[in-house]
Amino acid sequence: MAGNITFTMIKPDAVEANNIGPILAMINKAGFRILAMKYMRLTKEQAGNFYAVHKERPFYGELTEYMSSGPIVAAVLAKDNAVADYRKLIGATDPTKADEGTIRKLFAKSIAANAVHGSDSDENAAIESNFFFSHLERY
Ligand code: RTP
Ligand code: MG
Repeated sequence: MAGNITFTMIKPDAVEANNIGPILAMINKAGFRILAMKYMRLTKEQAGNFYAVHKERPFYGELTEYMSSGPIVAAVLAKDNAVADYRKLIGATDPTKADEGTIRKLFAKSIAANAVHGSDSDENAAIESNFFFSHLERY
């Protein structure tokens, strides 16, 4: 059965471009409820731990450098079928391949600076939410 939470980050490029507000508006308009949220800056080590699954990929250094280059917004979102529906809302990793009207099509600058993160499975949604939030921080 599909789970009902996903985890997202608004990445440094979108924060820097003053797009926190428009992105949160799209998230709410698409029917997601915000269960937890924080505004913070990751250290390179924390970004490395978060993206540890990509450790062997050629872009890992660039990714962790970028994700620690400025503040991000982290949030847990709730909705039926949250993981798949949120991936649909954000669009493809490469913004040039993202569908019209998706968050990445509208706000991403490049494949690396692609505006938002979205969990890719229910299992990772739980792991990623637990990385940032305790159960006392979810409402
Ligand atoms: P995310 O995890 O951030 O939601 O992105 P995703 O699932 O769409 O893509 P994934 O394959 O998990 O890659 C994680 C992030 O790594 C950066 N990336 N850079 N330079 C490159 O070729 C490259 N490929 C991936 C992106 O920021 C991507 O979101
Ligand atoms: Mg991913």
